[in-house]
Amino acid sequence: MDIKSIDSEDLPTNISQNEHFQSVVNRAVGRRGFLKFGSGAAVAAFLAGPLAGCGGTDTPTASLLGFKAVAANGLDTVTVAEGYTATTFVPWGTPLFSTGAGSTWSGTGSETAADQARQVGDNHDGIHFFAIDGTSSTEGLLVMNHEYNTTLSPTFTDYLTLFGPTPAPANTLERVNKAINSWGCSVIHIKKDNANKWNVVKDSAYNRRITAATPMQLTGPAAGDAKLQTSVDTTGTEVLGTFNNCGNGFTPWGTYLTCEENFNNNFGTTVAPTEDGRNVSMKRYGITAGTSGYAWETQIDRFDYKKEPNESNRHGWIVEIDPFDATSKPKKRTALGRFKHENAAYAFTKDKRVVVYMGDDQVNDYIYKFISTEKYVEGNQRANANLLDSGKLYVAKFGNGVTAGDFMGTGEWVELKLSNIPGSYTAYTFANQADVLINARLAGDAVGATKMDRPEWVTVHPTSGEVYVTLTNNSGRTTADEANPRTSNIYGQIVRWRETGGDAAAMTFDWDIFVLAGNPTVPGNPGTTKAGSSNVTADNTFNSPDGLGFDKFGRLWIQTDGNHTGLGNYANQGNNSMLAADPVSKEIRRFLVGPKQCEVTGLAFTPDSKTLFINIQHPGENGNGGSTWPDGGTNMPRSATVIITKNDGGVIGT
Ligand code: FEO
Ligand code: CA
Ligand code: CA
Ligand code: CA
Repeated sequence: MDIKSIDSEDLPTNISQNEHFQSVVNRAVGRRGFLKFGSGAAVAAFLAGPLAGCGGTDTPTASLLGFKAVAANGLDTVTVAEGYTATTFVPWGTPLFSTGAGSTWSGTGSETAADQARQVGDNHDGIHFFAIDGTSSTEGLLVMNHEYNTTLSPTFTDYLTLFGPTPAPANTLERVNKAINSWGCSVIHIKKDNANKWNVVKDSAYNRRITAATPMQLTGPAAGDAKLQTSVDTTGTEVLGTFNNCGNGFTPWGTYLTCEENFNNNFGTTVAPTEDGRNVSMKRYGITAGTSGYAWETQIDRFDYKKEPNESNRHGWIVEIDPFDATSKPKKRTALGRFKHENAAYAFTKDKRVVVYMGDDQVNDYIYKFISTEKYVEGNQRANANLLDSGKLYVAKFGNGVTAGDFMGTGEWVELKLSNIPGSYTAYTFANQADVLINARLAGDAVGATKMDRPEWVTVHPTSGEVYVTLTNNSGRTTADEANPRTSNIYGQIVRWRETGGDAAAMTFDWDIFVLAGNPTVPGNPGTTKAGSSNVTADNTFNSPDGLGFDKFGRLWIQTDGNHTGLGNYANQGNNSMLAADPVSKEIRRFLVGPKQCEVTGLAFTPDSKTLFINIQHPGENGNGGSTWPDGGTNMPRSATVIITKNDGGVIGT
């Protein structure tokens, strides 16, 4: 989601006394006397054999960044580095089938709910390419999230484009159902033709829309728990829909992970008195009193937190989808905990158990990791099918112990289990371990997890196993403190950590700041923390890092979802953009600039790394004809995928 003032993730719901990451940084800085940014040489020593296993003639050997930087701009188009081509693909409303409902796109948004259920959804976000045979770079399943619908005001019902170019405030069941059918995920069979052009394989048996009403299953330790039961589903295992699908992940056994983020926005009440009636858990997860923004509860009872107090507990999970079986039921994996999930990045422990790193995108919320009980079985997909159903969930505690290397501090992972909840914690009483998973945020509060500046995407370096996370911003921070380098963190930063012994199973880690975003071009900023770390320059200045991912060569791709005005503190930063970084030299270059008022998010490569798919979300989100991308003319803006290729057929980023 963007950083409009209505964003619910900007509102702190964490009332615990837990320490904030900024205080940890301040102590580390105080100890060392300056904000240390590790030398390239030391980092290089840690990144043993960064290109091992990649092979091929396209493997870069010198700097990881081979392209010429793109200047910031405010244009209503996608600008990509010289020698590259950007092609719009599968915008909202693209038909997946050639006959029946939704088989044509009107161009005006006049489609019905039934049409929308068979067309590509709205507000594209996380994305992944599954090669059709595991290796193809010319045919596969493009799977993506559709996070939400853009609206103009806190009364979210004034949809910007869902019902056409004129915002439509009235809520009816049909309108709510259309919104429901425009959220969730798309599975799209795509194939390159002889002219090297990617096309949708219409009517493919793989094509599928998963919506905010698709039946799915709750699995894992919390499945069936009393807190997951509703009047409609007394088993606590059968749930309708996934929504607010933000970032994503994928597994080595060929499944897609979709991450449920701001589900709180979809729950409200019409039952008098509507002023409140929320329990401790609902408040901690950010459900607001009375009517919700989207007001779905005015039409469908399960979104009313008084009529179905447990329904919201059935959302806020990571959902595993088998894209190769359109009849398969998506599974909400309760072992991974319930919070406002941004994305999910996997790694292996040295003994081949599966680790999933995850962030909770809310001001002052936490970073988590899951470690499976069972080991991954190579080459036997079925044996891995339920790996995410049993394991341990941990939350991160960042400290400022002295590290052996050049990083800033040390940290530890604390297991979220009933016996770790201290008796002194009285804000909430956990009924059982299922409750610990359902209320993972409260469990994090109880064990003293470190409050972070809105954790967005997490990604794991392909060979070193170092983990990087975007902390997008915390503009609400106003408390000044002499050691605090960022009293108001309006630009965000990227933090990284290395697990002790290089093993993702470790219970301790060393952490560092990879880049402190900032703007050295604003008068008065140079020489201050607002200028950012030394790898932020007049050429690459950006704010609010969000999407994040390594390619297989170890290039770190950074996408922004921030202030796109180009004014004041954001001067010369232009529209939201995509940059690439070399983790060793720490150099950062802008690779692409999105159209007006968009967010750039989600990234997926074909196995040969020669096609990159990214998403442009909510172009023209401020309304008033601010964007007509991608269709131009007098058309309304549409979220869409963009295909990036190098004109010489080379690897993206070289
Ligand atoms: Fe959906 Fe935190 O971004
Ligand atoms: Ca957004
Ligand atoms: Ca964001
Ligand atoms: Ca995001």
